[in-house]
Parts: sequence; C-alpha cells; structure tokens
Amino acid sequence: MRCVSFDGVGDNGVVSIQTRADPVPGRFEVLIATEYAAVNPADVLQREGMHPPPPGSPPDIPGLEVAGTVIACGDSVTCFEVSDRVFGLVGGGGLADRVVAHERELARIPDALDDEAAASVPEAFITAFDALSQAGLGAGDTLLVNGANGGVGTAAVQLGVALGARVVASVRAAGRREAIAALGATALPAPEAFELVRSLGGAQAILELVGGVHMTENLGSLASTGTLVVVAAKPGDEVTLPLRELMGRRARIVGTTLRRRPPEQKALLVQRFARRVVPLLAERRVAPIVDRVFDLSQATSAFDHVRAPGKLGKVLLRTTTEGTLPDPGA
Ligand SMILES: NC(=O)c1ccc[n+]([C@@H]2O[C@H](COP(=O)([O-])OP(=O)(O)OC[C@H]3O[C@@H](n4cnc5c(N)ncnc54)[C@H](OP(=O)(O)O)[C@@H]3O)[C@@H](O)[C@H]2O)c1
Repeated sequence: MRCVSFDGVGDNGVVSIQTRADPVPGRFEVLIATEYAAVNPADVLQREGMHPPPPGSPPDIPGLEVAGTVIACGDSVTCFEVSDRVFGLVGGGGLADRVVAHERELARIPDALDDEAAASVPEAFITAFDALSQAGLGAGDTLLVNGANGGVGTAAVQLGVALGARVVASVRAAGRREAIAALGATALPAPEAFELVRSLGGAQAILELVGGVHMTENLGSLASTGTLVVVAAKPGDEVTLPLRELMGRRARIVGTTLRRRPPEQKALLVQRFARRVVPLLAERRVAPIVDRVFDLSQATSAFDHVRAPGKLGKVLLRTTTEGTLPDPGA
C-alpha cells in the first residue's frame, strides 16, 4: 500500500510517502481500498506531537476516517462482504490507499455519494451529528455554529437545518458567508452572529468549532437550559467564565472528542449515524462539501492548506492515479 507516514514529530520535514505491505484485517475488521482520504486539523496536530493516536492504531500513519471498497474481510466479519462500499472512523492509518477498520465503526455508503463525496463525510458529519445530539437540538430551536465554513461546520449547519432548527453561523471569512447562507443559515461575522442570537432569545445549542476566543460571548448567548458543546480548542486555550451567568441560565457546557472514545462507544455512534444521517445523505438533503483535492504525494501541501484560513468544507488526498492534479505551488 501507499501511505503518508510521520517519522517522529515536528513540521512537514517528518512527513514522507511510503510503500508498505498491505495491513491485514483482524477477526472483526475489513480491509478497505480507498480512492480518497480526508485530511483533518487533528492530523497536523498529530504531526506536531499534540494529538497521539489511540493504542492499537498505526502509530505513524495519520488519518482518522476512511471511505472506500471492502477488498478483504476478517474471519468473524458479518456486516459486510467484499465489494461493499463503506465509510467510517479509524483510530489512525486513514491517509493510505489501504486501510483496516472495525466493521462496527463502518456504515454503508449510499449510492448518492461518489467516492470523493463519501471520503468527505465520516469525521465531519459524525462529529456534527454527535455534538447536535449531545445538545438535544430539536425543530424550532436556535443553533449557533461558530467556525461554520470548515468540514464540521458545513455539516453541522446542514444537519441543523434538516432537523428544523433556525441556524445562525459565525464565519470569519467574508467570502465564505454567501456559501454558508446557501446551506440555510444566517451567516455573519462573530459579533453580529452573537447579537442576532441574543435578539432571538438565545440559542438552545451552540457548537464551538474554534475555541476559547468565543467562550464568554457563547455563555451570554445561550438560552435558558441551553447547551454549549465545545468541539474544538486550540492547544493551551484557557478561559474565565462568569459562573453566575451559567447558573442563571441553568445551562450546560459539554466537552467532546471522538478519537479518544472507547471503541464500543464509537461503534454505537457510527450505528446511530447510519440510521439517522446516512438516509439524509442518500436523499441529498445534506451533502458534503469539498474544498480542495491534493494528490497523496502532495500531503505536505494538504497539511498546510488545512491550517490555512478561508476554506469551504473538506480537504482530501487522492490516493490513486497520481500526477494529474495541478501543482499546489503553482
Ligand atoms: N472534538 C472532536 O471530536 C473533533 C472532531 C472533529 C474536529 N474537531 C475540531 O473541530 C474544529 C473544526 O474542525 P474542521 O474539520 O471543521 O476544521 P476546519 O475545516 O479547519 O474548520 C475550522 C473552522 O474554524 C474557523 N477558525 C479557526 N480559527 C479561527 C479563529 N481564530 N477565529 C475564527 N474562526 C476560526 C475556520 O475559519 P477560517 O476559515 O476563517 O480559518 C473554520 O471555519 C477543529 O479544531 C478540529 O480539530 C474536533
């Protein structure tokens, strides 16, 4: 197989593209051939030594998610067979053209999604769906999504709209607000988004996809009994919060991560995603957004691009048919 590898921690100097023996699926695992692999901010943090993979995952191959075609099954696999198209979560090893994954952390890809779109779904839509579920978002609620033009944000906006919520999105990049509005949200710079949410009586749910910079405003923008879900924080982010505002609103602040959850919890979440979100993807009521595709050999440019401001949706590596994409430096 071909994969992205990290030789230690550091900058892009530790990144190489390697050819290795294909991984062998364990009893309950399948081997998946990919056409595309999604790059996440967490991969860059892992390269920098700040987001280690969970035990049992490939220690030096980044990549948190997978989409592709099953080409081999472990002895005890019952959910899938060879040639099934599947997508889901992995603890690591996703930035490769061959990936092993536990069958319970996979769902079937609906026909509505081609390979590129399917690769853009799992981490973004599962994170967004899980965060909205933890907030208990319902029809008629107000949802505020902070940092809405990235992978998770564009998924959260669409899922919020599909659930019947009134969605307000804070988007720093002026050039991306129109696209987020087209997804059904009111897209504004953060100060105006907070102001609008307050004028609506506060948000029942806030998804924080940026970090500490918004926390005080978030608390002041929660409706009574609202829930603020902290999905992202920069390393070292710390905040001081007016606790009486939290008490007065009887509000909740929930922190969440996907990667560090025990496998059985991830499996349950992926099964819920398969029941609740995959049908929306199949009916094209929600759809992943791809910002840019790089060749696997351009992984370092993809890592730089993931960190760059102003993206709209996901960044992908194409794991096959090398060499026909434009030079990212051009
Ligand atoms: N807890 C979990 O399990 C989990 C799962 C998935 C992702 N995450 C985290 O959630 C965050 C979003 O993920 P993603 O895949 O959507 O990332 P992404 O595609 O890179 O999007 C990041 C978003 O945050 C905005 N942003 C970043 N810094 C900002 C700042 N200082 N002020 C205002 N906006 C800022 C970006 O706006 P610009 O375009 O203007 O920079 C963009 O809208 C990341 O931090 C990621 O690591 C957490």
